[in-house]
Amino acid sequence: MCGIVGYIGHRDAYPVIIKGLQRLEYRGYDSAGVALYDGADINLSKTKGKVEDLNNKAKTEISLKGKLGIGHTRWATHGIPNDVNSHPHYSNSGNLVIIHNGIIENYDSIKKELIKRGYTFSSDTDTEVLINLIEEVKKQEDVKLGKAVQIALNQVVGAYAIVVFDKNKPDELVVAKLGSPLAIGVGEEEFFIASDASPFIEFTNNAIYLEDEEMAIIRVGKEIKLRKIKNDAVAYPKIQELQMNIEEIEKGGYDHFMLKEIYEQPRAILDTYRGRLRASQGIIKMAGVDQNIEKFLNANRIIIVACGTSWHAGLVAEYIFEDLARIPVEVEYASEFRYRNPVITDKDIVIAISQSGETADTLAAIKLAKEKGAFVFGVCNVVGSSIARETNAGAYTHAGPEIGVASTKAFTTQITVLTLLALKLAKEKGVFSESRFHEYLAELENIPAKVERALQTNVLVETIAEVYKDSTNCLYLGRGYNFPVALEGALKLKEISYIHAEGYPAAEMKHGPIALIDEHMPVVVIATNRGHYDKVVSNIQEIKSRKGKIIAVVTEGDETVRDLADHVIEVPDTFESLMPLLTTIPLQLLSYHIAVMRGCNVDQPRNLAKSVTVE
Ligand code: F6R
Repeated sequence: MCGIVGYIGHRDAYPVIIKGLQRLEYRGYDSAGVALYDGADINLSKTKGKVEDLNNKAKTEISLKGKLGIGHTRWATHGIPNDVNSHPHYSNSGNLVIIHNGIIENYDSIKKELIKRGYTFSSDTDTEVLINLIEEVKKQEDVKLGKAVQIALNQVVGAYAIVVFDKNKPDELVVAKLGSPLAIGVGEEEFFIASDASPFIEFTNNAIYLEDEEMAIIRVGKEIKLRKIKNDAVAYPKIQELQMNIEEIEKGGYDHFMLKEIYEQPRAILDTYRGRLRASQGIIKMAGVDQNIEKFLNANRIIIVACGTSWHAGLVAEYIFEDLARIPVEVEYASEFRYRNPVITDKDIVIAISQSGETADTLAAIKLAKEKGAFVFGVCNVVGSSIARETNAGAYTHAGPEIGVASTKAFTTQITVLTLLALKLAKEKGVFSESRFHEYLAELENIPAKVERALQTNVLVETIAEVYKDSTNCLYLGRGYNFPVALEGALKLKEISYIHAEGYPAAEMKHGPIALIDEHMPVVVIATNRGHYDKVVSNIQEIKSRKGKIIAVVTEGDETVRDLADHVIEVPDTFESLMPLLTTIPLQLLSYHIAVMRGCNVDQPRNLAKSVTVE
């Protein structure tokens, strides 16, 4: 949930660290800090607030010299966001400094033990405990920093990605990872450390992604020493060539990353099926599925595990798999699944969906499913992420970096991948005729252009946002394929504008939520012309007769709902199962504009983080 950056080499570390922290700010943004080492003194500055606040403070407070530096952007776990709890943290001697992303679960017992030995603590954090444990081990065992880190980490329970340095070792950084991501950028006589590759992409394309329970001792002019934390075994660095480019992680003229990412969806969806879909030949190629096709065809059921927006994509996939491929599907919150002793057999396929590929609950659900013998297939966006590595096989969404904390293009590209998978299985199982299969592939190829058209509703949606920006509540209703879209629309609104919003299957309204409807309640109804259109029209009438304000998302040319609704937003027609790819677009835009009008920080909503690496 936090972002970490480190640098050691021939450049000034400060600009690399600050820019890197800005790129990682999506991971946490309640406080930030930096420590620079010029070979004689450590200069440390930290503050509650954003990276920009840190930059302003550091410039006036400390010398910015130093070819070695570490920086941190925080999402608080232990201790409220304030200057003292911000990272980096010193050890008691002032010689060791640490940044940490993760949680040390047994910090309290270690802290008590260290207090007995005379240690004092200025912050409430688990991280300050860890750096003092490392210091104590170093002293007691009389070992070098790398060994002390290793011994200390064998005593802690929890998750971490850490970077540590020692004032007595001006040319060395020690890093370690368990459960939180850590990438090392390998340049010419310089190294970069970060939670993901975005802070160093303009400096090097070569990266090493540490595996869990690995640590590295990094020295300028020397080979990286990689070893296992548990047993001293030496591991060999696997250097990967990165595909990311710098334009992808900048705003490109948009006011916010979220808006940029909403507008990237036609291209992102195209990139998701490009290379996999050959409509003219009637082929869908997915390496992770092709290599395991028997497992998929013999599966008794599919269990989908995910969190948040990815869980909503899973709900859409449930409709798609059951409807198109006739495979029974269960969709589970990963956080519930992992703790409820689920019945899983080796005839089950578990599909884990995650944009970041780092969500702790989803990762734990995968491990549990594997232990119980299931085959686990991952749908991730971030290449090389923990979930991508932990699963038996998978398919990347290829949406490109998603920086805005609210997921947008991740959702539509996840649905695209899962549609490809369902269509492929439908064909292999003989559920689909050749002609129906061809029709679907052709329509899938039309989707990017139709998403472009859905994006043209932006100006209209902005005027609707103006009307409802001061609402305190909002209901979202949809049926069938559009029910998960209603849930997703409500999540988008509440997370970025802080307006309370709920999504329901439209027919459930009369079992409770209808009591909320009066002239102050905006109700967003997805009422496209396929599926249960007539029934949804009846629901709209029920809302209207109770004076609710109706914002309807309809299919182009719809006249019936236009007569009933206060506002109508049209999207192009498509197959029912592909409709979520279009109906979700105006709902993303509506939340975006309302949040901007309310003065909210759209890309970094309060209390949230992009990558939820704690449970
Ligand atoms: C909502 C949102 C979150 C994530 C959730 C899972 O806009 O972004 O609900 O969808 O935290 O994250 P991933 O997909 O990275 O596992």
